[in-house]
Amino acid sequence: MVKEKLIKKQPFKGKIAIICGGSKGMGKETARLFVKLGGSVCIVARGLETLKEAAKEIESVKVEDSQFVEIISHDTTEMDKLEPLFKAFIDNHGTPDYLINVVGYAYPQYIEKLTLEDFKKNMDINYYGQLVPILIVLPYFMEAKKGYIVNFSSMMGYFGIMGYATYAPTKHAIVGLTETLRHELKPYNINFSIVYPPDVDTPGFEEENKIKPKECAMLSEGAKLMQPEDVADVLIECILKKKYNILPGEAKFVWRMFRHFPKLVRNIVDKDYKKARKKLSKN
Ligand SMILES: NC(=O)c1ccc[n+]([C@@H]2O[C@H](COP(=O)([O-])OP(=O)(O)OC[C@H]3O[C@@H](n4cnc5c(N)ncnc54)[C@H](OP(=O)(O)O)[C@@H]3O)[C@@H](O)[C@H]2O)c1
Repeated sequence: MVKEKLIKKQPFKGKIAIICGGSKGMGKETARLFVKLGGSVCIVARGLETLKEAAKEIESVKVEDSQFVEIISHDTTEMDKLEPLFKAFIDNHGTPDYLINVVGYAYPQYIEKLTLEDFKKNMDINYYGQLVPILIVLPYFMEAKKGYIVNFSSMMGYFGIMGYATYAPTKHAIVGLTETLRHELKPYNINFSIVYPPDVDTPGFEEENKIKPKECAMLSEGAKLMQPEDVADVLIECILKKKYNILPGEAKFVWRMFRHFPKLVRNIVDKDYKKARKKLSKN
């Protein structure tokens, strides 16, 4: 839970965030907290009914009548169709203060079962699904010489384990994009953060678990499952401090270990993988 002091302070009073992927999981919890702390949001996702339900929930934590919760129901990979919808929102409410890109999914599978289409689809949604909103909002941020873009990567954005062949490259791509834009847009006073969540209890994670190779599931058995509202707490506290890398829960420990002792981490996951295969071969 964010500190009472922060709630009293209402740091997002008068601020607006567009949150792509804001109808479920971590996106929804981020939107809820943003509104609880005084801000207004536009949540974007494909499913209209889920968006409406989420908007109702988020509305219920409004602190002032002047706050709003709007929805845009569209696929964020489709630039030509999304752009007029974002433009209409911006014409109405002005340039937002934040763009938070949460859109993404994992499709854990054995490499030999994956098709080229699986790779393309994962890249389309996870990379282009975050790039397109950036391309639409960026000219407004550049003109205003202010703005804050938060992109969701994953622990698979800084290393890789079996099963994530389609997913890990998409999350590495998000890091490469954010790193480049962070540097290039310095003269425009635009801030960036990358979020690297660990395993989080969300509808997306539930879907992922239905298809996950057994070895892959066994590798994360010991990991602590975070709640989406706890990730939102960390995210919001970090963006208020303008932290570039946001590493909730165990992601921070693994990040540090992998940065300083990559060989050791690879040895550990290699051993765990071997153990998992051995255990499965006995069953
Ligand atoms: N959960 C985890 O354990 C975990 C761990 C590390 C990283 N991550 C990353 O964190 C982010 C959020 O994960 P989550 O588990 O909270 O996700 P989630 O529960 O599946 O929610 C995803 C949100 O994105 C929307 N969305 C998906 N594809 C879209 C598209 N093409 N266009 C517009 N909206 C789209 C979904 O709504 P619609 O389906 O209705 O469009 C939903 O609002 C993702 O980028 C994920 O890869 C998750």
